[in-house]
Amino acid sequence: MSMQAMIYAYFNPASTWNEDEARIPYQPATKKLHGRLRPSAGRMKDAKPYDTSKGALPRDVIIHPALLGHLARERVGHPDQKPLGLIEKIICTSSNPGDLVLDAFAGSGTTGIACVNTGRDYVMFEVDPVWFDLICRELSS
Ligand SMILES: C[S@@+](CC[C@H](N)C(=O)[O-])C[C@H]1O[C@@H](n2cnc3c(N)ncnc32)[C@H](O)[C@@H]1O
Repeated sequence: MSMQAMIYAYFNPASTWNEDEARIPYQPATKKLHGRLRPSAGRMKDAKPYDTSKGALPRDVIIHPALLGHLARERVGHPDQKPLGLIEKIICTSSNPGDLVLDAFAGSGTTGIACVNTGRDYVMFEVDPVWFDLICRELSS
């Protein structure tokens, strides 16, 4: 398993946090179990069956498939390229369509592509001309 450490930090309690975008679908077995539970007595007698339709909120770890080596179709050769689906999830969780997203270390430009796919604007910086040119090509195609 490959692991990446990420930090989500915010200073304003009014910051965007779309928690439903971060939800993880329950396993079919969990859904089935909760669907069968019918509290009938004691302290829990009025409890409603647990709603599993929206999925579970993640804890400290987001599990997402890694890029599959050089075989991944989206891989462009950057040594630290992140999976597009993971970046889209983070962007959708912490911004709204039409917002402006800043990535000061753009690399292969995954953030820009994720913004195009999810309806956000973006500003990116990349110091290496090789990756800068690649980003320009990817985003103009
Ligand atoms: C961890 S990679 C980013 C990977 C990116 N998230 C992706 O999915 O491809 C960091 C990038 O930041 C760039 N970088 C490092 N220092 C920089 C700086 N001062 N200004 C702009 N870019 C910088 C590096 O060249 C590298 O491509």
